[in-house]
Amino acid sequence: MKTDTMNFFDRNAGHWDQTTQPCPGRIGRLLDSLGSLSGKRVLDVGCGTGVLFRPILDRIGPAGNLAGLDPSGKMLDKARENCSCLEVLLVQGFAESMPFETGSFDAVVLFSCFPHLADPETALSESARVLSPGGRILIGHASGREHINSIHRDIGGAVADHLLQPAPVLAERLVSAGFEVDTAIDGNDLYCITGTLRKKPWSG
Ligand SMILES: C[S@@+](CC[C@H](N)C(=O)[O-])C[C@H]1O[C@@H](n2cnc3c(N)ncnc32)[C@H](O)[C@@H]1O
Repeated sequence: MKTDTMNFFDRNAGHWDQTTQPCPGRIGRLLDSLGSLSGKRVLDVGCGTGVLFRPILDRIGPAGNLAGLDPSGKMLDKARENCSCLEVLLVQGFAESMPFETGSFDAVVLFSCFPHLADPETALSESARVLSPGGRILIGHASGREHINSIHRDIGGAVADHLLQPAPVLAERLVSAGFEVDTAIDGNDLYCITGTLRKKPWSG
């Protein structure tokens, strides 16, 4: 079923890359907060047009694997166009029901995606499920929370109430999903939460 959010991103996919600012320095800082990704299996949730693919591939190297997940077929079409020469598995689907086996990844990245999730709690437990024990999670934005929230309010419509919570609040949600949180930055130009999966939440 197509949601208002999917319709919004489908409608905007064609000009997405022209209307968003590239910010390699801040993306680098966010990815570096995961520690070494060399040889790791990484899932980019809400991958959009694939802005993270090159920096992640640079970090995982030839021994790693990268998958991008997004419900918007049009964003994925753009990702395919942008990244035809890159080795990335592109999958259409929702963060709330990830079409991957349990324990398939070493790191899950949600970049500029979290406020758009319809059911963030389920998305966090799905992230925990698809990670192997000790796996890493990053929820990041290359701008501050107030800036992100004001952009969404200004756009209005389907994304008007897609608001990012203060980092300590989101960090608590990560803890409830089974993660130990090691970074929670809620700065003027960066929002970054990282954690490590402590144990499988369903394993008792
Ligand atoms: C603001 S865009 C960011 C895309 C990309 N990460 C970037 O930074 O350019 C948010 C992305 O999240 C995706 N998205 C929305 N709801 C989602 C969901 N429930 N599960 C996974 N991705 C979702 C959208 O389709 C869109 O591609």
